[in-house]
Amino acid sequence: MKKLRTYYMHLRHPPNMERRWIFPLAIGSMVSLFLLFLSMVASPGGTPLFPFYKSVAVSSSFFVESKLHPVPISSLPPPPRFAYLISGSVGEGNMLKRTLEALYHPINRYVLHLDLESPPAERLDLQKYVQNHPIFKKFGNVKVITKANLVTYRGPTMVANTLHAAAILLREGGDWDWFINLSASDYPLVTQDDLLHTFSYLPRDLNFIDHTSNIGWKESQRAKPVIIDPGLYMSKKADVFWITQRRSVPTAFKLFTGSAWMALSRPFIDYCIWGWENLPRIVLMYYANFISSPEGYFHTVVCNAQQFQNTTVNSDLHFISWDNPPKQHPHHLNVNDMQRMVDSNAPFARKFVGEDPVLDEIDKQLLHKRPNMVVAGGWCIGSHENGTDPCSIAGSTNVLKPGPGAKRLETLINSLLSEEKFRPRQCK
Ligand SMILES: *[C@@H]1O[C@H](CO)[C@@H](O)[C@H](O)[C@H]1NC(C)=O
Ligand SMILES: *[C@@H]1O[C@H](CO)[C@@H](O)[C@H](O)[C@H]1NC(C)=O
Ligand SMILES: *[C@@H]1O[C@H](CO)[C@@H](O)[C@H](O)[C@H]1NC(C)=O
Repeated sequence: MKKLRTYYMHLRHPPNMERRWIFPLAIGSMVSLFLLFLSMVASPGGTPLFPFYKSVAVSSSFFVESKLHPVPISSLPPPPRFAYLISGSVGEGNMLKRTLEALYHPINRYVLHLDLESPPAERLDLQKYVQNHPIFKKFGNVKVITKANLVTYRGPTMVANTLHAAAILLREGGDWDWFINLSASDYPLVTQDDLLHTFSYLPRDLNFIDHTSNIGWKESQRAKPVIIDPGLYMSKKADVFWITQRRSVPTAFKLFTGSAWMALSRPFIDYCIWGWENLPRIVLMYYANFISSPEGYFHTVVCNAQQFQNTTVNSDLHFISWDNPPKQHPHHLNVNDMQRMVDSNAPFARKFVGEDPVLDEIDKQLLHKRPNMVVAGGWCIGSHENGTDPCSIAGSTNVLKPGPGAKRLETLINSLLSEEKFRPRQCK
C-alpha cells in the first residue's frame, strides 16, 4: 500500500517540484478510484463503464496486493482534457476574463462567447485581451466567437448557442474528453489541477447531468405551452412569446428535466452534433417551442438514447443556492456562503454578480489565484518573486499538483458513484 502511494506521488509530483500544498489522497478511496480505472482498462468488450461496479466489488480482496504493484508507470491514467464554453452578455466581459483565468489550464480548450446584446467594443476588448495574453497566445487554446449569437433567456437560442460552441470545439480538433458549459457568473471552487487529477480516474464516457422524469408542475407550465423565440429569426432581441394552443405530452420519447449546467462526454457530444441517429435532431426541433429548453434538451436526449442511459451521473457539479421559496434566479452568493460552498465539495458555484468580494476569498483560500493572473498549476515553474507570474515559464503540462480541492472533489465523486446513488438515479 505504501509503495503504491509513493509510486503514485512520484508520478504526479516529480521530486524536484515543490510539494508545499500537496495533500495526499486518503489511501482507501484512492485505491477504489484506482480499481475503478483498472476495471475500465481491463474490461474485455471495450465498454469500460458497465462492468466497473462488479469489478470493484469482487476484486478488491486480491487485486490490491498482487496486481497493483507491478503496473508499469505508463499505464496510469493520463489527465483528461476539458472543453469549456464560457458565455456572457452585456457588461460581463470582465467577469468572463476572471472566470477564464480561474479555469485556465494549457491542456484544456476554451470558447468564449459574448452574446449579440453586448456592444462590439466589449467583444473587441475581450478578443484583444485573449490575443495579447502571453500565456493564451503561447498555447493557442482560447477562442473568442466573433460572429456572436442572439441568445434569448429561456429560449431555444440558448441551446443553439451551446451546440454551436460544441461544434467549434469539435472542429478545433476535438482532442478533449468533457464539454462543460458555464457562464460569466459561474466560478470554480477547485483548481484545474484538482479537477484534471480526479477526473483522470474516471471512465471518460460519464455524463454529469442533473435530471429527473418527475416533471411535476412543469408538465402544465412547460411541456404543454408552445412558445416562439424571436431570437431564431429576428436581428434584435425580443422576449419569447406564447401561442394560445397547447400541445400534449410526447409519447414518442419520455421527457426529462433538470439543471442547465452539465459536463458532457465527448462521445455524447459527437452523438448530438453529428446526429447520425435522428433522436438528437427530432428532440432539438421539439424543444424549439419549449420554454427553458436548456433544462430539458440534453436530459431528454441522453435518457432516451439506449447507448447513453447508463452513462449518466445525476449531478450538475455545481453549488447553487436557491432562496426559500425559490425565485426565478438563484440567490447571489456572498462571503456568508463561503463555508457552505466548500462543504458542498462541488467544483463549481453560481451565481456571482459583479465583482463580489466572495470571489477574492475564493481566489485566496481555494484557488491561490492572484489578481489578473491565471491559477498556477503544476505546469507553472517560474518564480513567484517580485510579483512575477510563475506561469510565464511553463513546464510539462501533464504535471498536476492537486491540493485540498482534489480531496473534496473525490469525496463528491465517490458519493455520486456509490452503489446507492449511481445506478438507482439514472434516468428515473
Ligand atoms: C449553457 O450556459 C448558459 C450560460 O450562458 C446557460 O444559460 C444555459 O442554459 C446552459 N445550458 C445549456 C444546456 O445550454
Ligand atoms: C444499462 O444498465 C441496465 C441495468 O444495469 C442493463 O440492464 C442494460 O442492459 C444496460 N444498457 C446498456 C446499453 O448497456
Ligand atoms: C526580485 O527583486 C530583487 C531586488 O530588486 C532582485 O535582487 C531579485 O533578483 C528579483 N528576483 C527576480 C526573480 O526577479
